[in-house]
Amino acid sequence: MVTGATGFIGSHTCVELLDHGYQVVVVDDFSNSSPQVVSRIQRLAGRFLDAVYKVDVRDRRALSSVFDRHRVDAVVHFAAKKAVGESVRLPVEYYDVNVGGTTALLATMHEHGVRRLVFSSSCSIYGDVDTSPLTEQDPARPSNPYAASKWTCEQMLADVCRCRPDYTVLSLRYFNPVGAHPSGLLGEAPLGEPDNLMPYLAQVAAGRRERLRVFGSDYATADGTGVRDYIHVMDVAEAHRIALEHLGDSTGLRVFNLGVGSGTSVFELLTAFGEVSGKTIPYEVVDRRPGDVTELVADPSAVTREWGWRASRDLAAMCRDAWRFQRLNPTGYAAG
Ligand code: WQD
Repeated sequence: MVTGATGFIGSHTCVELLDHGYQVVVVDDFSNSSPQVVSRIQRLAGRFLDAVYKVDVRDRRALSSVFDRHRVDAVVHFAAKKAVGESVRLPVEYYDVNVGGTTALLATMHEHGVRRLVFSSSCSIYGDVDTSPLTEQDPARPSNPYAASKWTCEQMLADVCRCRPDYTVLSLRYFNPVGAHPSGLLGEAPLGEPDNLMPYLAQVAAGRRERLRVFGSDYATADGTGVRDYIHVMDVAEAHRIALEHLGDSTGLRVFNLGVGSGTSVFELLTAFGEVSGKTIPYEVVDRRPGDVTELVADPSAVTREWGWRASRDLAAMCRDAWRFQRLNPTGYAAG
């Protein structure tokens, strides 16, 4: 079962899973995505998803009936809200969807004897840190409601695994997933104004938005703008498939960073995107965005050590694929 399967990371992961022979049951409320994605996933994979349910994961009755209908071996739980800026405006909503959704899912899994979960966590749980790169042992100090909601879920998962030794949970702390499927059929298509940097850049390059607002150039970084570890969404999707293959290695909660291991500033990404797209990208520097941190860069060596896997796509590929998706889908999935 994949929750949030038509979202940005979920959709790429579904293709990867179908490509590797998995049978996939989808649960999604389509609140920040489009049913169009379902047909695109199937078209890319050349196979059908087993079933698609329009269900909010907080709705335990509806979720339970999905578990009744399918023999679920494992759940990959993407369904959540994910924008730092929005979470500062809507803190209760973030706890409700992210923590409430995970609680409902865990309760329903338990009722149906499903004990294996891959959870979408986030680098943002590390907060405003001086350490770089970050290992999984670095302390969590979430500095916004989004990050706090993910950290609350991880703590809940740790408790569940401590109390129930037959549970197997992998929590993947994504750094900044960007890019798109190389076909240009799947990508990041937020409804409304994008919160995240890469889709915003793509829309400015395409002339859909006037200019990028760079949120602060007075950070303690080389060029003053925020530094993140951008990772190609195809690498993130691949990591989920590999995570499923390793779910059976041991019981309990295991936590892994998913990043490339190097940092890119807002200005560096702007330059890279300009080169790939051949466009001049207008921008203005504005105030820092509430809740933002200076720098988040992964030490991704644990996942390489455990699974022999590492991200393989570079920043140019991330920009190229994001730009292709933008050009082929100028209004996201809206037009078809
Ligand atoms: C990146 C940088 C901004 C928009 C994201 C996800 C979150 C989590 C971590 C996985 C920052 C700057 C942005 C803009 C800008 N991922 N920026 N102008 O905040 O790191 O969080 O990755 O769980 O889910 O949302 O990503 O893309 O919003 O920002 O200058 O219009 O770009 O200040 O330095 P963020 P982002």
